[in-house]
Amino acid sequence: MISTNKYLAGEHPLESYRLAAKTPVEQFVARYLKPHLVPNMRVLDVGGGPGVMAREVARTVSDSVVYSLDASPARTKAAEECLDDLIYAHAILGNAYQLPFPDDSFDLIYTRFVLQHLPNPDQVVAEMTRVCKPGGRLLLQDTDGYNVTHYPKDERLQTIIHKVIQCLEKSGFDPYTGRKLYHWCQQLGLLHVDVTIQSHNLIAGCISEQALQFLKMEFEVANNTFLEAFGSQDTADDAKRYFYEYSQRADTLSFGTLFTVTGIKPIQV
Ligand SMILES: C[S@@+](CC[C@H](N)C(=O)[O-])C[C@H]1O[C@@H](n2cnc3c(N)ncnc32)[C@H](O)[C@@H]1O
Repeated sequence: MISTNKYLAGEHPLESYRLAAKTPVEQFVARYLKPHLVPNMRVLDVGGGPGVMAREVARTVSDSVVYSLDASPARTKAAEECLDDLIYAHAILGNAYQLPFPDDSFDLIYTRFVLQHLPNPDQVVAEMTRVCKPGGRLLLQDTDGYNVTHYPKDERLQTIIHKVIQCLEKSGFDPYTGRKLYHWCQQLGLLHVDVTIQSHNLIAGCISEQALQFLKMEFEVANNTFLEAFGSQDTADDAKRYFYEYSQRADTLSFGTLFTVTGIKPIQV
């Protein structure tokens, strides 16, 4: 077991299903990766979860090798099953801080919603840069303010969020990671660093039934954090319920910002 994996869902049996169900796989690959995909590539997904994005990449780009790496044995097993019928797509159990690949191994390396969970995310970006080929591309995507940005301000909701975030921060979680990605890429000397932002999980008025079900699943896999924050299952459930009720109000707005940052590893002369 990789000791650095303090991911909030741990090995929760629902997590692979939740990630696979929630990830807009085709949209993500078409919008962010496809412009950079050419035949004969080596591609790495860092923290690839159940492998659904690596699968879509492998199906989109020809004659290429795609790896989905994750620190969770449960997610890696799910990724193995997901990639089973694709000869050139592989699931690997591994640690983003110590990628099990030599220097200059990949043409494209991407990571989505992973850095925000890690205590030293800039070290992971440096490690991704190490295994990227000179002239190859890194793509980092993370949220900023997701689940913590709401209007109108509500004192009880703010207290609930504060307690949960305090617990999550102990394992390195940072809800404001998105805005930091650009700086890390610049610090590493990446070239042509490009940033795009969009809204993430915008809820204006009553949350849709589907979004509510995803929110409930998200809080379910993070139940240990709620227990730590509130001391008992009853108080944890009260806190969750209050959050759902706020999201179901017609007069409330909640949103996060989605940051996508790309950069090129310089070719040494
Ligand atoms: C929110 S999920 C994102 C999964 C996928 N990238 C997606 O967009 O659906 C974060 C993933 O990062 C993995 N993870 C956490 N710490 C890790 C580490 N140190 N090395 C590799 N993967 C890690 C978790 O196991 C989890 O599958």
